[in-house]
Amino acid sequence: MALSNIILIGFMGVGKTTVAESLSRLYGMDMIEMDQVIAKIEEMTISDIFMTHGEAYFRHLETKLLISLFTCNNTVVSCGGGAALLDENIKIMKQNGHVVLLTASPETILERVKASDERPLLNGNKSIEFISDLMKKRWDKYQSASDIIIQTDNKSIQNVCEELMTKLGELEG
Ligand code: S3P
Repeated sequence: MALSNIILIGFMGVGKTTVAESLSRLYGMDMIEMDQVIAKIEEMTISDIFMTHGEAYFRHLETKLLISLFTCNNTVVSCGGGAALLDENIKIMKQNGHVVLLTASPETILERVKASDERPLLNGNKSIEFISDLMKKRWDKYQSASDIIIQTDNKSIQNVCEELMTKLGELEG
């Protein structure tokens, strides 16, 4: 089992990609950003995939990618915010690495996502109410998928990475 992999999950805008980039740089790990890989394979933006083929098709691509990813080790995987919602995906993640849930408040998330139109689920829905509602709906799945949880509000990326590595170290004993 390649448990040296770190799999970052959590809501849109919690900082999965930024944290993955830093972990990769600080700890010499390879990095995979799922949305970027899917967009490259499909030669389309994530928004265009949603618009042309629908969300179910995109979810299928996520599962396919997750299955194919785990020949790798020493890799940090930044998952799309919906990837940890399917039991099938969670099982694949858990078999191949430590699953780390990043969290942030709806206020922080709104601040981080408001200038971007790359997240189809948030286009036209950029409000605290919508974000907290969707977060609540997803919380149980996120929580039960994760081995550790890191809260990111008001922390530097460096602090988040250090806290994450410390908690992972404790987990591994
Ligand atoms: C989604 C999150 C996005 C992207 C897609 C759907 C979600 O990824 O996969 O727009 O359902 O939460 P990020 O979490 O990297 O923004």
